Amino acid sequence: MGKAVQRQQNIMAQSTYKSVVLAQRPKATIVPGETFKIKENPMLSERDLKDGEVLIEALYLSLDPAMRGWLNGYARSYVPPVQIGAVMRGEFIGRIVASKAPKTHPVGAFVTAMSGWTELAIAPAKDVKILDVPANGKVTDALGVLGMTGLTAYFGITDVGQVKAGDFVVVSGAAGATGSVVVQIAKLLGARVLAIAGSDDKVAWLKELGADDAINYKKPTFAADFKAATKDFIDVFFDNVGGDQLELALSRAKPHARFVLCGAISQYNNAKPKGPRNISMVISMRIKLQGFIVFDYAKQYGAARKQLSQWLAEGKLKRKETIVPGGLAAAESALVNLYNGINTGKLMVEVKPVEETFVSKL
Ligand SMILES: NC(=O)c1ccc[n+]([C@@H]2O[C@H](COP(=O)([O-])OP(=O)(O)OC[C@H]3O[C@@H](n4cnc5c(N)ncnc54)[C@H](OP(=O)(O)O)[C@@H]3O)[C@@H](O)[C@H]2O)c1
Repeated sequence: MGKAVQRQQNIMAQSTYKSVVLAQRPKATIVPGETFKIKENPMLSERDLKDGEVLIEALYLSLDPAMRGWLNGYARSYVPPVQIGAVMRGEFIGRIVASKAPKTHPVGAFVTAMSGWTELAIAPAKDVKILDVPANGKVTDALGVLGMTGLTAYFGITDVGQVKAGDFVVVSGAAGATGSVVVQIAKLLGARVLAIAGSDDKVAWLKELGADDAINYKKPTFAADFKAATKDFIDVFFDNVGGDQLELALSRAKPHARFVLCGAISQYNNAKPKGPRNISMVISMRIKLQGFIVFDYAKQYGAARKQLSQWLAEGKLKRKETIVPGGLAAAESALVNLYNGINTGKLMVEVKPVEETFVSKL
């Protein structure tokens, strides 16, 4: 019996599968044990599939800062809120266990899907991306350097920031999934880079990645350190953090600086988010302040992935991952810890251990 068939039979032998649903909207930070609940669902099988659908088992969940915003019931945003009782939204890497689209989506294939926090999901094959793992790559890159965060870094720095050789680029949240790729692409484009992160270990890693300078924002001397490190003033600020760091960066902008507003993680859990008090610097320094959402670049993902894959294959892009074990039950506390800086590089939860994810062993 083939491994794929054996795997399928093992899964089908279970009588239920788990998912995580939103139980209560948090007012500020997520409250473990209250915000989400685990739900047991009747088992799915090939019999539940319509033509063109696949049944997928989840292996790795992507944990993303934006998830906190999706839990708010009120905000106007780029996606609707997750409804109470609904499976928590999210992307995962999974494996097809049954298929009614076998030509394009065979059993055993590794895929990514937006099926949320669940052990099993049925999805139309057209919404399920078969993984293409490049040289030097591994399956989990599909959520990191070659996934949404890598693409965000790529379009943020090349298109929104228009970074060119000689620019002085400052990156906040620099040791995370997006920030660490931003730092490296800015260096590849010939910029000088200052990286900001929340621990000395992260600062050391950012220097290994090629940052010309890196500082720890949790040190009491941060404001003075930042001022000293930006004595030549900033051409491009790539902001993942918002709040106080955005305010400081505005005070150190060159005339006509470009501010790439990618995220504002420091404010996501605040019941009363605060903005920079010195917004008038935008006027006096004629700063171009631009927000963006990576989904707007969907038509260009293929070309960007090709470039990112090439840099990866050539050893010009490096990455780290923080993979939290413990299955779906670990997702809630891992998400809380994302806002405490638990991760270096991409944060994921392992739903099911995969013995070997390198493509050469697939
Ligand atoms: N615009 C888009 O399309 C788009 C797409 C993807 C992501 N984003 C945004 O990009 C940012 C980074 O996302 P990511 O997925 O790459 O996450 P990430 O950077 O891998 O993880 C988040 C990191 O943020 C830092 N952080 C947490 N709370 C903070 C605070 N109060 N102040 C300063 N730093 C804090 C932590 O590192 P430290 O140890 O350094 O604190 C943490 O590791 C987020 O703001 C996210 O919303 C935007």
